[in-house]
Amino acid sequence: MALQYKFPKGFWWGSATSATQIEGAADEGGKDRNIWDQWHENEPNRFFDGVGPASTSDFYHLYKEDIGLMKEIGHNTFRLSISWSRLIPGGRGEINPEAVAFYNNVINELIAQEIEPFVTLYHFDMPFELQEEGGWENREVVEAYAKYAGECFRLFGDRVKKWFTFNEPIVPVEGGYLYDFHYPNVVDARRAVQVAYHTMIAHAKAVGVFRAAGIEEGQIGIILNLTPSYPRSQHPADLKASDAADLFFNRSFLDPAVLGEYPEELVEMLREHGQLPHAEKGDQKLVKSGIVDILGVNYYQPRRVKAKEHLPNPYGPFMPDWYFDNYEMPGRKMNPYRGWEIYEKGIYDIMVNLRDNYGNIQSYIAENGMGVEDESRFIGNGVIQDDYRIEFIIGHLTWLHQAIEEGCNVKGYHLWSFMDNWSWMNAYKNRYGFFSVDIETKKRTPKKSAHWIKQVAEQNGFNG
Ligand code: NOJ
Repeated sequence: MALQYKFPKGFWWGSATSATQIEGAADEGGKDRNIWDQWHENEPNRFFDGVGPASTSDFYHLYKEDIGLMKEIGHNTFRLSISWSRLIPGGRGEINPEAVAFYNNVINELIAQEIEPFVTLYHFDMPFELQEEGGWENREVVEAYAKYAGECFRLFGDRVKKWFTFNEPIVPVEGGYLYDFHYPNVVDARRAVQVAYHTMIAHAKAVGVFRAAGIEEGQIGIILNLTPSYPRSQHPADLKASDAADLFFNRSFLDPAVLGEYPEELVEMLREHGQLPHAEKGDQKLVKSGIVDILGVNYYQPRRVKAKEHLPNPYGPFMPDWYFDNYEMPGRKMNPYRGWEIYEKGIYDIMVNLRDNYGNIQSYIAENGMGVEDESRFIGNGVIQDDYRIEFIIGHLTWLHQAIEEGCNVKGYHLWSFMDNWSWMNAYKNRYGFFSVDIETKKRTPKKSAHWIKQVAEQNGFNG
């Protein structure tokens, strides 16, 4: 019997991870500290249960078994990130041969299992020494990043064909410079804008280095957490606020990456508040050269936007949350185990926007997933019965399928994540994996969704 939701031939099924969240071995194999190691050392109590990045799932030692499990559940692709402070301790200078050996082993094992590696260069993990120099606020760090990118292409580009410069570049901006959930815990919108700008300059430089490296059949992209903005009402103030949120959180990255330029409205908004970032001569051209081949989209939940009734002094530095409140909206469908909204159609809206306004760029879902607190309460017959996750994935895949039917250029779907992992300040609070991980013994156990996704991947589709 024909499947109800069949995906195009060669569709990518897999999952995504990042180095800091899964590798562990934080002080092993010549790795140096990144901002997470340092922040945890300084303020362990800011992390859920005090757990830091040294206590992750230990992929560093268990990668071979993990890749075996990926194979078992039908993955044909897998995204990992390279840890900059592992490959180049301190961020610039000598390459660490132990890191090269480790990433070579991982990449070779993936290829041996016919799982195509997708590699992110930067997933929130600035080498601490470079942060001490100002991190992304300092344009010299941009140069160090471009060199690091070049080393990655040189070392692994013979086998890795899908490269991504950044994962969710807005998040270190929000976390580190606006809302205090990433190091360096600054709250200053002016600096946040500079960090966002330099990130995209770094992105463009890395794209240039990639083009020069001439990687055969290689593609370069970026992973963006596109968060559709929906106004809470048709009131003009809400419509304006929704556009402002879209400009700041999505289009600050999407437009330069796909169209090669910043939206005029964003430039205007920042100019109005005297907050244009410091730029150098030639930057416009540089931004243009940063256009990607492929876009990875992370989608978790939308943003519901309502204008604030009283704006603070409009001549002071702009703070994005002047323009909107994301507050409680009755009637939304919520994830009862974590508190994020579940709005499956958002995934379709994103793709249609890419089709209609961004040249239908080749894209894939690089992350989508459902975090659940205290997931062991759902164990039955020794297996976590995560039917809620299966339902969550089906809901999103159904809309993704619809988008593809309507001509959107979508090539794959990765769940966040392969296994439960360490999630920044939340550490192990919310579990996301197809496999659960016992953080003491490191034992991996498939959840019900692992068995389910295997079937989906093997049939390249499912029945609703
Ligand atoms: C986005 C990020 O890329 C990842 O690091 C994080 O753990 C997940 N979303 C879940 O919040």
